[in-house]
Amino acid sequence: MSLTANWSYPTSVRFGAGRISELAEACKVAGMTRPLLVTDRGLAPLPITTKALDLLDTAGLGRAIFAEVDPNPNEKNLAAGIEAFKEGGHDGVVAFGGGSGLDLGKLVAFMAGQTLPVWEFEDIGDLWTRADSAAIAPIIAVPTTAGTGSEVGRAGVLTNSETHVKKIIFHPKMLPAITICDPELTVGMPKAITVGTGMDAFAHCLEAYCAPSYHPMSHGIALEGMRLVRENLPKVSATPDDIEARGHMMSAAAMGAVAFQKGLGAVHSLSHPVGALYNTHHGMTNAVVMPAVLRFNRPAIEARMAQAAAYMGISGGFDGFYDFVLKLRAELGVPERLSELGVATDRIDEMVEMALQDPTAGGNPVKLDRENTRALFEAVI
Ligand SMILES: NC(=O)c1ccc[n+]([C@@H]2O[C@H](COP(=O)([O-])OP(=O)(O)OC[C@H]3O[C@@H](n4cnc5c(N)ncnc54)[C@H](O)[C@@H]3O)[C@@H](O)[C@H]2O)c1
Ligand SMILES: [Fe+2]
Repeated sequence: MSLTANWSYPTSVRFGAGRISELAEACKVAGMTRPLLVTDRGLAPLPITTKALDLLDTAGLGRAIFAEVDPNPNEKNLAAGIEAFKEGGHDGVVAFGGGSGLDLGKLVAFMAGQTLPVWEFEDIGDLWTRADSAAIAPIIAVPTTAGTGSEVGRAGVLTNSETHVKKIIFHPKMLPAITICDPELTVGMPKAITVGTGMDAFAHCLEAYCAPSYHPMSHGIALEGMRLVRENLPKVSATPDDIEARGHMMSAAAMGAVAFQKGLGAVHSLSHPVGALYNTHHGMTNAVVMPAVLRFNRPAIEARMAQAAAYMGISGGFDGFYDFVLKLRAELGVPERLSELGVATDRIDEMVEMALQDPTAGGNPVKLDRENTRALFEAVI
């Protein structure tokens, strides 16, 4: 099967191996004449990035790059990016990378023309309506990992460099005008990033599927997303250049992000404070805590997980699904405990409070409180 397609949902998506070749044309369609490519420090020197710049340059669009972007980007990275955008007289952003490069690129395009500080646009109620939406520059997104799904999302995650707390910054126009999903770009990911980002996509689908709110569209997308991860994440982990499997993982990542407007849950509520305090990889952290959260949620999700298991060809209902997650984790080399990622119990009080305040906590099928959240942390560390 050739995995090439054009989708118009949730934005214009050009999907297929090799389609990075359409980058310059996509910039022109989006109205850009001087794009700024935004990526993170790690990707900046890699051949895939040089090739993207070459494509822009050859088409007369210049080869401007901003890469002062940390993993889990913060407001200092954003301020420097906005400065580069203004100084270079740019009129659009190519957001290139994993979630870090994509989010910071989207935030530069959003914030370059605003007067209010970025924290005023946290994803709460309709705060986004304070923004001058005419001043938002167009965005082309090019994912190089298959995990966050930020390439089809309307938000960017920004870490406060003083408090270490991550905030979700939201504006509908942060949805990229055009997204190029080229699975060849993901082949060179280090194995731990392939696994971690893949498990993030899985966590998005799983938690969206379990969230109790009514959203049948997201529910269906989440279910198929889980099936794609089950069939393809072990393949890309074992055979990094399996382009078909890489393509399915890229789809699953986008599907997770579309699905999680239904809600996320305790996997993310636990993972966010751990990532903030210990700088662990987000997706890998999710993978470690996932089985404990499934056990915790069991009373509320047992029937639903049996339906998912049946759809995914797993026998044994909830128990079968739970065993599958344990086996997947082992097969991918995911640690069984957070202590193996350097997490200790000494900051558990802080993490419990952060987890309860995390915006994802409300989506968990079993209500989180101080006592059960502490017990969860103790179990996963
Ligand atoms: N916007 C959203 O909806 C959303 C959702 C979830 C997470 N996030 C954010 O996304 C970030 C995490 O993103 P991520 O998991 O994709 O990791 P990442 O973007 O931080 O990348 C991880 C590492 O992999 C490297 N890398 C990326 N692609 C590569 C490639 N093709 N080849 C070689 N190296 C490559 C990067 O240089 C980096 O060192 C976090 O900041 C998180 O908060 C955003
Ligand atoms: Fe996530």
